[in-house]
Amino acid sequence: MRLIYLKTMAVAVLMSATTSYTAFAAEDLSAYRSGDKTSGYVYAEPETRAMQADDFENPGILWVDEGETLWSEVDGEAGKSCQSCHADPSESMVQAGISYPKFSKTLGKMQNLEQKINQCREENMKAKPFKYESSQMLGMTAYVRNQSHGLKVNVKIDGEAAPFFEKGKEFYYKRRGQLDLACKHCHEDNSGVMIRANRLSEGHSNGFPTYRLKWQKMGSLHRRFRGCNKNVRATPYGYGTEEYVNLELYLNWRGNGLQVETPAVRN
Ligand code: HEC
Ligand code: HEC
Repeated sequence: MRLIYLKTMAVAVLMSATTSYTAFAAEDLSAYRSGDKTSGYVYAEPETRAMQADDFENPGILWVDEGETLWSEVDGEAGKSCQSCHADPSESMVQAGISYPKFSKTLGKMQNLEQKINQCREENMKAKPFKYESSQMLGMTAYVRNQSHGLKVNVKIDGEAAPFFEKGKEFYYKRRGQLDLACKHCHEDNSGVMIRANRLSEGHSNGFPTYRLKWQKMGSLHRRFRGCNKNVRATPYGYGTEEYVNLELYLNWRGNGLQVETPAVRN
């Protein structure tokens, strides 16, 4: 039953591709656009936007606060905290939030922010890595990315990153799952169209980690990838897998020029 429903839904999405989307009139949303790119913020309901915009109402700030606490907490055999080496994150971390994933020579592949943070924990602090979707990892990535709040995403895809970018792009355009849909079918061809309770956005990554009302908590970009894969009945990849990190590189590049909104709020 459910599968049939989803198939009908998929067809409905494709059928209504010509529906054009007009933004809500009252609010000045220019900060949430860059050229022809529009942040998911603009596609969100006004109440959800209001929640994001107000630091006292934005539930994602709780994770940012957790990250702030962890920042100066000594952990691991080296007896250090992030602060011991990086001091003031509003200076030392400001580039990190806009520029990952980056190519790592040691790994011979791309590394995202979560993985960079864990590299520092393991090598520089001699501490245990944070688990991918743990509140500590979500808190720390949210805190680090929040240092770049309002700055434009600017990931590099040339040089050693180029072949990984191509793989991420391939992932984005590949049809998958029982519904046989690619990311592009929903987020490129149908942004603005309603799909069940959600208005399809362009699927940008500039607000991650993001507080989702549906999750009732913060979630990473890879959690979102897994959800979107499952929606088309495809087998999701694991958190932090090479496939998802390459996809993240491609997606962040698509969002180059949009402002970092972490922590964003979405439904
Ligand atoms: C013993 C010193 C030390 C500690 C402790 C340390 N780091 Fe680092 N970190 C470095 C050095 C050195 C670099 C730059 C070289 C590199 O990229 O590995 C770096 C780089 C980074 C970067 C990449 C910055 C960029 O612009 O690319 C991030 C993000 C980062 N650290 C986060 C953290 C976090 C979060 C913690 C605490 C959990 C932490 N680090 C603890 C030494 C440290
Ligand atoms: C069947 C349609 C569908 C497909 C296919 C799909 N998504 Fe989504 N996606 C959604 C819906 C619905 C949402 C929630 C509303 C929105 O932001 O578009 C969403 C949200 C997102 C978001 C969050 C945007 C924000 O502003 O918070 C990202 C990122 C995303 N998708 C990426 C992807 C990627 C990458 C793929 C391909 C692996 C993909 N999606 C495939 C339906 C889809």
